[in-house]
Amino acid sequence: MRDRADAQQRIAELREAIHHHDYLYYVEARPEVSDAEYDALMRELRSLETAHPELVTPDSPTLRVGGTPTALFKPVEHRTPMLSLDNAMTEDDLREFATRLARFLPGAEFAYVCEPKIDGLGVALVYERGRLGRGATRGDGRTGEDVTANLRTIGSVPVVLGRGGLADEPEIEVRGEVYMPRPEFDRLNRSLEEAGEPTFANPRNAAAGAVRQKDPAVTRRRPLRIFLYSVSGAARMGFATHAETLEALRTAGFKVNDEIERCVGIDAVVDYCRRIEARRDTLEYDADGVVVKVDTLEQQRQLGATAHHPRWAIAFKFAARQATTVVEAIEVQVGKTGILTPVAKLRAVELAGVTIRNVSLHNEDEVRRKDVRIGDTVLIERAGDVIPYVVQVITAKRPADAAEFRFPDRCPVCDGHAFRPEGEAYWRCTNTACPAQLKARLRHYGSRRAMDIEHLGEAAVDQLVDRKLVENFADLYRLTVEQVMELERQGEKSAQNLVAAIQASKTRGLSRLLNALGIPMVGERVSQQLAARFGRMERLMAASEEELAHGHGIGTEIARAVRAFFEDDANRAVIERLGALGVVMTEAGAAEGPRPLEGKTFVLTGTLTGMTRDEARDLIQRRGGRVTSTVSKKTSYVVVGEAPGSKADDARRLGVTILDEPAFVVLVNA
Ligand code: IVH
Repeated sequence: MRDRADAQQRIAELREAIHHHDYLYYVEARPEVSDAEYDALMRELRSLETAHPELVTPDSPTLRVGGTPTALFKPVEHRTPMLSLDNAMTEDDLREFATRLARFLPGAEFAYVCEPKIDGLGVALVYERGRLGRGATRGDGRTGEDVTANLRTIGSVPVVLGRGGLADEPEIEVRGEVYMPRPEFDRLNRSLEEAGEPTFANPRNAAAGAVRQKDPAVTRRRPLRIFLYSVSGAARMGFATHAETLEALRTAGFKVNDEIERCVGIDAVVDYCRRIEARRDTLEYDADGVVVKVDTLEQQRQLGATAHHPRWAIAFKFAARQATTVVEAIEVQVGKTGILTPVAKLRAVELAGVTIRNVSLHNEDEVRRKDVRIGDTVLIERAGDVIPYVVQVITAKRPADAAEFRFPDRCPVCDGHAFRPEGEAYWRCTNTACPAQLKARLRHYGSRRAMDIEHLGEAAVDQLVDRKLVENFADLYRLTVEQVMELERQGEKSAQNLVAAIQASKTRGLSRLLNALGIPMVGERVSQQLAARFGRMERLMAASEEELAHGHGIGTEIARAVRAFFEDDANRAVIERLGALGVVMTEAGAAEGPRPLEGKTFVLTGTLTGMTRDEARDLIQRRGGRVTSTVSKKTSYVVVGEAPGSKADDARRLGVTILDEPAFVVLVNA
């Protein structure tokens, strides 16, 4: 146990740090630490204050509920404080919550209402006889800001309530969360960027900024929405459950989240939390957890609240997507075309359920721009299945001896000369025989979207190259089971599997082969287009730069790269050998086949039931059509599967023909 002086010192430090982070977060919208790190500071402070209650002062951040009202708007005292919620970080915490409830109300059965915890801005709206009287932000929980004029501009905030029910009450206060849908947020940021204005870091900051605008006309132009989640004093109005209250909100014309579910027993709650977390990236708003509320209002009343939070509710927090960690080293990796990529080696850190040890720093300019140094503490982020990246360096934590990274002028693997081409951001190793390049090329050749060779993993590739068994792609097809068995960790069965998988890849077809060859600038899309247009390798190899550049999306630069690749004797020799070994050099159904969709562009959204998205794309391209990712007036069709995204709305808005799955199948097979 710390002695009192130590505790006092630490409490002062923590308060200062928390004040500082509050200011950056709420006022400057420029946080320096992750939410998890902030929570940890708060937890430490709270536990010290619990141990030393005599050290609690009225200005301690633990006594505020968050948020800093500023002088811009009139302050509004909330009639009942807008409390914050206790957090459950794990499934065990959720179960403990249920155990606590049972201790408080022995013998009671509990049903819960589970709601996505929207990462927006909490607000309270007061209606007098069904008319919107006042709207306020949550502020510090006790005092918020009067933002009525701004909230009135939000389409989903009703100004007058539907008749009956809540509309007949002399006065009601409802609470909810204002947010900006993700697609709208992306659009807003794009247009700010085009206008050369600063962009918002996330939808919550954008929503908070819009609600706290001086000029309501600006708020009106921002795509804000609201979900309501409570009515103050609902029990006094005769409601028995929270679920009933939500229904009444809906009837009165408020938006209530459709994802909300009533769950009986804590197992059902745990299941809900898991399901929503798995789908968090498909929701159109940012949710950072699930709010679990006891459904029966009488039970809520009996359970009551502590100074900070109600005992009848808890916030289950999703795994953090941001974390801070330390850059222990910056290494350079060699890619398949010899490009040298700086990679930060991190002190291992858990991020959205995955342990992160490396993060790409992309290129020399990026390292400079973010000013990442060895020894720095960095904020990293990983959204959904997106690769983690460095958001920023926490310069306040930079140690005095943090070392700047100097890009090497030699390849770290073969010691070959490295150079940075003029006008480019990357460095490249000039030695085409560099084993690191060959390994990277082979890994790419066998990857799922290229030749899809199962069992050709990193360990196998490394050994095949180190033992000089494979010096180019064609050598793969001459490998024998005996040779493979000599590698480490390869028994007879696994050697047979690898050799069989390599042989099976011969029939993948031209488009995958082109992707697999690793031609600079030629990825999956370009490969598909080239394969569809030229149909066979000889034609493609014979095509001039002009012929190559003729197609959609293939400009002169790509055309030049393709020409340069095929003019290289070593490349031609490998392709010739691949052909001689039986690797298929044509595309089934391409160029020769009918092309009824020539000139048509498609956008796919939602999940198709009869085929994967890749299969749908293949089908369209083989028939001569194109697939793009954004809907414009020029789009011919938007194919809408289950749970479509905002692209379906875009299509409706722009008057683009919408096809459901059966209609699409009919069209492509016509
Ligand atoms: S209930 C006492 N329900 O989360 C009940 N809050 O820490 C407290 N929030 O700032 C609120 N979605 O603005 C509730 N479905 C939801 C919510 C929600 C987001 C926010 C709320 C508050 C914070 C609670």
